[in-house]
Amino acid sequence: MERADNVIMNTYGRQPLVLVKGEGCRVWDDQGREYLDFVAGLAVVNLGHAHPDIARAAAAQLTQLVHVSNLYYTTPMVELAEALVRRSFADRVFFANSGAEVNEGAIKLARRYSRERFGEGRHRIICTENSFHGRTFGALSATGQSKFWQGFDPLLPGFSFVPFNDLEALAQAVDDTVGAVLLEPIQGEGGVNLPSPDYFKGVRQLCDEKGLVLILDEIQTGLGRTGKLFAHEHFGITPDVMTLAKGLANGLPMGALLATTEVASAFVPGTHASTFGGGPVVAAAAKTALELLSRPEFLAGVREQGAFLQEKLSDFKSRFPVIQVVRGLGLMWGLELAQEGTPVVAACRERGLLVNCTQGNVIRLLPPLVVTPRELEEALAILGESFQAVFS
Ligand SMILES: Cc1ncc(COP(=O)(O)O)c(C=O)c1O
Repeated sequence: MERADNVIMNTYGRQPLVLVKGEGCRVWDDQGREYLDFVAGLAVVNLGHAHPDIARAAAAQLTQLVHVSNLYYTTPMVELAEALVRRSFADRVFFANSGAEVNEGAIKLARRYSRERFGEGRHRIICTENSFHGRTFGALSATGQSKFWQGFDPLLPGFSFVPFNDLEALAQAVDDTVGAVLLEPIQGEGGVNLPSPDYFKGVRQLCDEKGLVLILDEIQTGLGRTGKLFAHEHFGITPDVMTLAKGLANGLPMGALLATTEVASAFVPGTHASTFGGGPVVAAAAKTALELLSRPEFLAGVREQGAFLQEKLSDFKSRFPVIQVVRGLGLMWGLELAQEGTPVVAACRERGLLVNCTQGNVIRLLPPLVVTPRELEEALAILGESFQAVFS
């Protein structure tokens, strides 16, 4: 840890842990201590650590062909794109390497599409307060939390912010400079904020009426996290553009920008690119991950474990008055506290459970989607002891 502080830029408030091994829902530190991992690499290792099928797919590809650039066709990328298209509203896919990078792509695509369709001027994108879309300039400018902007002015112009889950405010923000709306189905980093059941139907209708591109950032909510392959399936709508990353290759870096043919047609050769995007190794891993994540019985299992966790968390809330609200869907949960949450994170860690705190007072639970009821019980027992230790 000291060596890291000497050579690595100081951008993260890291936990004092050196992790060396992972398997399923557990990780081990360099002292041999075992932890139940309810962070899952921040909603990334959805199939658990060191999944053997994914390791095999990546290893086989590593010895076959690692990288040739997007000047050429490669098969794993095409197979992955076909699988994504088959399982979603989308017709076309662009691959990149992270969430922020595909959100940049979505912003560029929406701007170009709106310009082509409606002429100059409709470049503005409406986003929401408390959203999180990444740290690169476009994604940061779309992120509705000023704490992340400090010191980086001037940001990219052309973004407006309205409260999440407020259809009226969204409708009022639309004028003839607006070309797109960018939303997370559930705000993750913003504190696990859920929309009301009809919000997205209203958003879809508004976008249709006004000719706006609806972009959904499913980077955290996608790929089974909420019990459906994509969270928007809960709301009975489809977007025009969707971004995925995090769980896509179960830990290898990959992002995907998906769109309808109509919107995707705004990209032509030379308009957008990524040297590493859709490389054979990550694409082979992602193809295997997607096959596993999209099995109906797997997704039914996530919903079942999610319902079990929900029930346990509502009991849990009644035991600890410091918990103001418990909210979530599938295996994405937040416990909003009346106090700062970081002492809970430390207390859990000392007892062998990794959890994360967002917005200062929301304990976020993002277990791997392969978590068993026993592991959920074990985690809740540790969480209970930790709450007892911190708040009594
Ligand atoms: C909804 C959402 N969008 C975008 C990002 C940024 O992804 P990345 O860190 O891969 O750039 C995140 C990361 O937490 C996220 O939760």
